Amino acid sequence: MKTPKHIPVLCDTAVTLLAPEPGKVYVDGTFGRGGHAKRLLDAGAEVLGLDLDHDAVAVCEEMSRARPALRCRALSFRKLGEALASQGWTSVDGILLDLGVSSPQIDIPAKGFTYREGGPLDLRFDQQAGETAAELVARLEADELADLLWRYGEERRSRRIARAIVQAGRDEPVDTTSRLQAAVARVSGRGPRLNATLSRVFQALRIAVNDELGALEEALAAAVDCLSPGGRCVVISYHSLEDRIVKRWLRKANQDCICPPELPVCACTHRRTMKVLTRRAMRPSESETAKNPRARSARLRAGERV
Ligand SMILES: C[S@@+](CC[C@H](N)C(=O)[O-])C[C@H]1O[C@@H](n2cnc3c(N)ncnc32)[C@H](O)[C@@H]1O
Repeated sequence: MKTPKHIPVLCDTAVTLLAPEPGKVYVDGTFGRGGHAKRLLDAGAEVLGLDLDHDAVAVCEEMSRARPALRCRALSFRKLGEALASQGWTSVDGILLDLGVSSPQIDIPAKGFTYREGGPLDLRFDQQAGETAAELVARLEADELADLLWRYGEERRSRRIARAIVQAGRDEPVDTTSRLQAAVARVSGRGPRLNATLSRVFQALRIAVNDELGALEEALAAAVDCLSPGGRCVVISYHSLEDRIVKRWLRKANQDCICPPELPVCACTHRRTMKVLTRRAMRPSESETAKNPRARSARLRAGERV
């Protein structure tokens, strides 16, 4: 299958942390075009690739014909336990989550991930299930849409923009990326400011349509039970909302007690499950971002099951 290429982000760092070798098994929860998975396979490991995007799963299946150590499932990484059980595995040596969208998803207008090309206002990773962004926009009241743009897009003018979108929807359905762009342009003007606003609006809708933050929280909670002792979880995120979730999860999993500081003795049953491997989020080098501008916002955090 010929599709636009995806350059894997922070690939050397992620692979070094995952330390693949023959006999080890991994879940790549965000297979995409398999850039990271290939490196794990090259090192002799077995990999289960998951993705919600059916094009990505097709690429995985094609790759697995030549590489039997690769298995594929069209499944959300939020169902990590189910993914392992489907392979008869009880635990794995590593889990990789490279969040967000792949370049082919952005570059294929029919997926509706970009405002730069006309296309349906879809934004679903799995285009066969769930509500599209167009349906979500049509269903929400202006106040609800404003809350969503504020929460998931950190958009400061969320109320004005939400009103403009809902107003536009009264004249004709806001069901294409160009119609959404035109509605936002009414309050945002044209030029670089419009592009920045549109990025935040698209980010917010994408997060909501795919329940991205909920999926990440569920996956991290499940990861602890899915990792063998010494197994590692590596997460690459592309915006602060995701990175905050990963950072808090690692910080909490790294503690033996989560009681409020004013309690004289520990009353919680929380026990340390993960060791933090990245004191600070790791970022791509300048040379990586020069070669691949889409890597710019990436932050990588990793932990090891104790
Ligand atoms: C940044 S890309 C991964 C790229 C991949 N690491 C590579 O090198 O080719 C993220 C992928 O995760 C997928 N995805 C997003 N949310 C998902 C979820 N909850 N479960 C499974 N896959 C998901 C997207 O469809 C996309 O293909």
